[in-house]
Amino acid sequence: MTNKISPRLLAIAEKLNKDMNIADIGSDHGDLPIYLSDIGFTRIYASDNKKGPYSHLVNNIKKANKEDLIETKLTDGLKDLPDDIDTALILGMGGYTIDHIIRSEIDIAKRLKLLIVSPQSEQYELRNFLTKNNFEIVDEFYVEEHKKFYPVIFTKHVKDEVIKPYDLASLMYGPKAIEKKDPILLKYLTNEFERYQTLPLIIQKKPENLVKIKLIEELLTNWYK
Ligand SMILES: C[S@@+](CC[C@H](N)C(=O)[O-])C[C@H]1O[C@@H](n2cnc3c(N)ncnc32)[C@H](O)[C@@H]1O
Repeated sequence: MTNKISPRLLAIAEKLNKDMNIADIGSDHGDLPIYLSDIGFTRIYASDNKKGPYSHLVNNIKKANKEDLIETKLTDGLKDLPDDIDTALILGMGGYTIDHIIRSEIDIAKRLKLLIVSPQSEQYELRNFLTKNNFEIVDEFYVEEHKKFYPVIFTKHVKDEVIKPYDLASLMYGPKAIEKKDPILLKYLTNEFERYQTLPLIIQKKPENLVKIKLIEELLTNWYK
């Protein structure tokens, strides 16, 4: 029997391979590492930087009888990441926090085969940071949870290539998700478009909202072309 996991974390877990050596940074409840262990992942590390969430993590791992299978650490971000970890996930935090975690241990982030990040906010800023620091967005999809929409960005550092700057729509909504016509992104854009129509005119007319709605309109118009 597998332990419970939210649809958001399940969608992410389904994209991982058992030969990956996984780190879940900012794991909190530990649902993802426990689930990955349930389904046969053999190298799992989970950490958090705050005592409350860290005890939550350790207690849940204990309850699931996984103490020998999941390594845990109370530490900040990617600091002290074991050398054999090749895939780190940083999920369910604001874009600036994820940016801070990567920036603080940039050499560790650069050596990973894959860094999977899922910002709850500041998506534009995070993609901008990744691109400027030569982290290529290799894949991306959206997940929906409690009527909120989150991108899941797969990125890895590329040493010798210069990453072509993305346009504004790609930085805001994700180059790969747009290219792949991600169905949850379509739902998100449609919701945003409809929500905009309900805003008071004075808010609609704010310059940043006008730019955003124009981008969304263009994306929706081109979606099925
Ligand atoms: C909202 S929870 C997300 C939990 C889980 N990753 C998920 O997506 O469901 C965010 C967690 O990240 C942790 N966190 C925030 N900043 C961190 C940092 N610099 N290093 C490690 N953990 C951090 C918080 O303590 C909290 O437990």
